[in-house]
Amino acid sequence: MIAWIAELWRGGQAVVEPATSRDAPALAQIHGASFHRGWGEGEFEQMIAERDTLVHRLRMGRKTIGFSVSRLAADEAEILSIAVAESHRGRGLSNTLLLTHLGHLAGRGVRKVFLEVEENNQPARRLYQRAGFAVVGRRERYYQQSGAEALNALLMRRDLS
Ligand SMILES: CC(C)(COP(=O)(O)OP(=O)(O)OC[C@H]1O[C@@H](n2cnc3c(N)ncnc32)[C@H](O)[C@@H]1OP(=O)(O)O)[C@@H](O)C(=O)NCCC(=O)NCCS
Repeated sequence: MIAWIAELWRGGQAVVEPATSRDAPALAQIHGASFHRGWGEGEFEQMIAERDTLVHRLRMGRKTIGFSVSRLAADEAEILSIAVAESHRGRGLSNTLLLTHLGHLAGRGVRKVFLEVEENNQPARRLYQRAGFAVVGRRERYYQQSGAEALNALLMRRDLS
């Protein structure tokens, strides 16, 4: 909290921008801290370079504090991953990130956006619901976990106009 207030005091404001290859280490770090199977720097570098992948970074001041990644195919896209660094969660920043990301997808001609979310991931479900996504399917025991019961996935969709 104190770090966040200090950032605001210094004029730090959250901005969403296209990621560049220089962001790969920070994005890999945030991904690794947010998901069981982290994506490495090389994977981020590749996705940032690919034409059919859209990667945004969320920046506050000089610090990268989140990202969103989508894969595009014709007029459809799938959101592959979105995360905000733990120290910056709970302040609505993911909403800014997602809505900007969706705006860029629309600008690329995307009409339908899909994603999968773990059924018990309440912050993510709230985020997607608020952004206009609806549940269109459910996959039982979709996410395998070592030594624990597999978790269900919800498939969500939002149309862009
Ligand atoms: C999902 C994630 C990106 C949300 O980022 P965030 O900036 O903290 O999100 P917000 O502050 O906008 O909160 C999103 C919603 O979740 C709610 N929320 C936050 N923590 C919650 C919790 N523990 N339980 C229930 N709801 C919660 C918020 O109230 C908000 O809902 P509202 O807009 O209706 O008030 C972030 O939690 C994250 O990076 N998680 C790890 C990676 C992940 O799971 N990504 C999604 C994969 S599908």
